Order: sequence, then C-alpha cells, then structure tokens
Amino acid sequence: MVRRNYAAAVLGGLMLVSSLAGCGDSGSSGSEGGDDKLVLGFSQVGAESGWRTANTKSIQDSAAAAGIELKFSDAQGKQENQISAIRSFITQKVDVIAFSPVVTSGWDAVLKEAKDAGIPVILTDRAVDSQDTSLYASFIGSDFVEEGKKAGEWLVAETKGKTEPVNIVELQGTTGSAPALDRQKGFAEVIAANPNLKIVKSQTGDFKRADGKTVMETFLQSVPDIDVLYAHNDDMGLGAIEAIEAAGKKPGTDIKIITVDAVKDGMTALADGKINFIVECSPLLGPQLMELAQKVDKGETVEKRVLTKETTFTQEQAKTELPNRQY
Ligand code: AHR
Repeated sequence: MVRRNYAAAVLGGLMLVSSLAGCGDSGSSGSEGGDDKLVLGFSQVGAESGWRTANTKSIQDSAAAAGIELKFSDAQGKQENQISAIRSFITQKVDVIAFSPVVTSGWDAVLKEAKDAGIPVILTDRAVDSQDTSLYASFIGSDFVEEGKKAGEWLVAETKGKTEPVNIVELQGTTGSAPALDRQKGFAEVIAANPNLKIVKSQTGDFKRADGKTVMETFLQSVPDIDVLYAHNDDMGLGAIEAIEAAGKKPGTDIKIITVDAVKDGMTALADGKINFIVECSPLLGPQLMELAQKVDKGETVEKRVLTKETTFTQEQAKTELPNRQY
C-alpha cells in the first residue's frame, strides 16, 4: 500500500491511491501476511570503523522504534555487493531503499532500476556523483568538505605566526568515497594559503584501524620529521597512534594529530592528550532516516538535502563531553 502511494504520487495519481488505502498490498510489507508495515531495504557499507558500528545501531534501533521492517544488508566494503543488495530489494518490492554508498560513482544504472520500479531511494551518510538527481529522493548526512575545512582551520590557527615548514602526513579514507574525497579537498583548500604547511605523504588507510597503523609505519620510515598527522577518521588515527608509540614518539606531542568522527575511543585519546583535535561526524542518522522514509513512502515532498549538525572538540572539551558520549 505505502509503496503504491509513492509510485502513484510520481504519476500524479494521488486520489486513486487514497481510495486504495486499507485494501492491503502484499508488496507493501514485502512479507507474507499483508501487514501494513513500511519495509525499508538498507545497504550498509560494512563494519570498517566505530562510526559505522554506531551508524548501523542507530538505523536498526530507529527502525524498530518506528515500527519499520528493516531489511539490512552488509556490503563488506564492496560496491558490487551494494548493487546486488539494491537489486534484491527491488525484486522483493520493498517500499523504500536506503544506502550509504561505498564510493561516489557507478550508481546510475541501479538507481534507474529502482526508479523504474517506483521505489524511492534515500542516500544516507555519503553522496553519489549522479548528474540526474531525480534518481534519489533525498540525501541525509554530513558536509564532509566542511569537516575537512574545520580540520585545516584548527591547524592554521595552531601554527599561526610560524614560518618554518610543517610536515603533514594524511591518512585518507576509502579511495573514491565521498568522505575521503571531500575531507581531503576541504583541508587542502584551507591550508593552501600557508605555504609552510605541506602535505608530504598521503595514502589511504581505508577508514580502518589496522590499515591506519601499517600506513603510519611506512610514513614514519620514509619521513623522519613528521609534525602533523591528519587522519580522515578516528580509527585510522588510533591505529597510527600505536605505530607512533612503537616508534618511540609521543602522539599528540611529538606529532600533532587531527581526526574526524568523535567516537568514544577517539574522544578518550583526545582527552588523554594523544589526539589534539577532532572534527565531529555524527553517525546517529537513524531517527531522521526513518522520518524521511515514512514521508517519501507517503509521496510527501521532502528536502533533497538534509544536513547533519556537528561540532568540533579540543582536548579540554573532550574531557567534559566524554561521560555523555553515546557511541
Ligand atoms: O562516511 C562516514 C565515514 O565512514 C566515517 O567518518 C568513517 O569512520 C566511516 O568509516
């Protein structure tokens, strides 16, 4: 029933839909029994970080609280798995599809299949680079360029008045993903005005702690005088801290560290002085996603871009915030 509402709204047949309401629709529940529960198919990136774990929990808890039947699929970091999951959701005739795209490109064909099937799609957390924005109903998530800028602004303020070279190493997120591309862009834009701030090495750590550690080990071997580490998420920063300590250096003192996310482990390291600054990226997208799913399912107009509110944390602020941190 609810899926019909969306399809009919697209066709301009709203009156017909309201007369059908209550007639039952096996497609709406995506399950036997014909109950009227909204069925949401969600394809998650994977479980690469603390942020992702918190995001999955937020989506699962919020679906349960909203009485939405969630069909959850873990893509294990692979775009092909996400495409298969979305095709399977289309075959199962779910009411709404949501997904957090592993990478930005390569989605047009499958998004068109969903559109042709009359199933609205909501992008969560990460953007796609599709030119045809009618392929999705809404995109909820952070402004990653802004996050990169905040990281850069902290460093510019921290090194104000200094003219000697500041050697920065960068641990990038998953190659081709929106947060990796945008956090790099925002940071680079802000530090560009200060020629002494130089990114001397930049490599992906795939948003994973283990990869952050191994890539940092190679950075430490090839660059003897690293001043700053900019890691695109807490997990890579935490892995890098292990490498820095193993190399006999003091994280947060010998090498200043800036990360993004503000998950509990990151905030603990910040409060302990091992990280110097964290730009928050909130994973708690579940409640807003459920609201959006209910609206698009009913054919209601929704905002095309829903921005997540977030802040930044210094070491002192982390000490205050830590006891309240949910994730
Ligand atoms: O897309 C959000 C990013 O993905 C988070 O910052 C990172 O931790 C996660 O893996």
